[in-house]
Amino acid sequence: MQQPSSAVLLVGEALVDEFHERQVAGGAPFNVARSLGALLATGPGSQAPVCLVSRIGHGDAGGALIRASLQRFGLATDAVQIDTTQATGRVTVSEQFAADGSPAGHSFHIHTPAAWDFIAAEPALAALETLRPRFFYFGTLAQRAAVSGASIQALAERARGLGCTRYLDLNLRAGTDTPELAAASLAQADWLKVNDEELDLLLRWFGRAGDAALNPLGEAQALSPAVATLMQRFGLQQLILTRGSAGYAAFAADGALLAQGPGLALPRMVDTVGAGDAFSAMLLAAQLSGQALANSLALANGYAAALCGERGPMPEDDAFFLPWRQVLKTAMPRGEAA
Ligand SMILES: Nc1ncnc2c1ncn2[C@@H]1O[C@H](COP(=O)(O)OP(=O)(O)O)[C@@H](O)[C@H]1O
Ligand SMILES: [Mg+2]
Repeated sequence: MQQPSSAVLLVGEALVDEFHERQVAGGAPFNVARSLGALLATGPGSQAPVCLVSRIGHGDAGGALIRASLQRFGLATDAVQIDTTQATGRVTVSEQFAADGSPAGHSFHIHTPAAWDFIAAEPALAALETLRPRFFYFGTLAQRAAVSGASIQALAERARGLGCTRYLDLNLRAGTDTPELAAASLAQADWLKVNDEELDLLLRWFGRAGDAALNPLGEAQALSPAVATLMQRFGLQQLILTRGSAGYAAFAADGALLAQGPGLALPRMVDTVGAGDAFSAMLLAAQLSGQALANSLALANGYAAALCGERGPMPEDDAFFLPWRQVLKTAMPRGEAA
């Protein structure tokens, strides 16, 4: 069998987040693809080995915004399908405020249907076949509707056959936070990325009695037996847990703690939009650059924290990426770590 290349193929939603006063491109797979594009670029105008499979509307303003953003991050548009009936996806974001007027996070309304609900399998499978990527990235939100749901399952199945590492960022959102969809996705995953709340839900749904109660309590080590049950049930190779300001932990298939790290003090906190996506992107970029896992996770933690100092899921200024590109080039490759 041909060896998978050092590329990443990502499938799912590319959409427009509509804030009160501005519109920005978003969607978890799109955020991860854009960070990868910036981190893996080898020079000005070069195209990183990153392929985003999604679907946008024909000739609408949202689609134009997404195309412009793909271009900015050096990503090809060939696998972004055009829908002549459905419009580019939209999310209405409302900023919430506490009684004293201080910011209290965001609430989202994810409009349906959207072009990204209709990702066609055939061209997506052709892209996968051509690229034979090392990583296949997917999530649950884009599986909410029948067409994209079936396409993503077919892609994951083929990715298994091609020997890709299938990276699932569960990213549970209202409407797709069902045990059925989680189980179908977990069954197609090799690596799983979850945040604290998502792990909590998985342990409630699929764990043994009492497992869920272990999660929010500090020590990652204490989670090992519960995580082992979950991973064995779904045949997972690796579980990456992000814990917001408390950092991260990674577990092997037998539940053993592989690595963990503390949350980093932020020089400035703007928002946590896309923090998990940033973490996934740097983890994958570092793995593709030949870094050992522990080092890759530490870099991901640093990159995600830095992105919390930028407004929205991507920084305005491309200069943000320069030190991270440099770090990826100079960090010690696998096997040479002290
Ligand atoms: N308040 C914070 N301080 C420092 N780092 C943070 C903070 N919030 C998020 N991060 C970084 O972003 C990563 C992902 O955030 P998390 O909230 O766990 O994921 P998700 O966005 O998927 O819910 C964390 O592991 C950490 O590296
Ligand atoms: Mg997340």
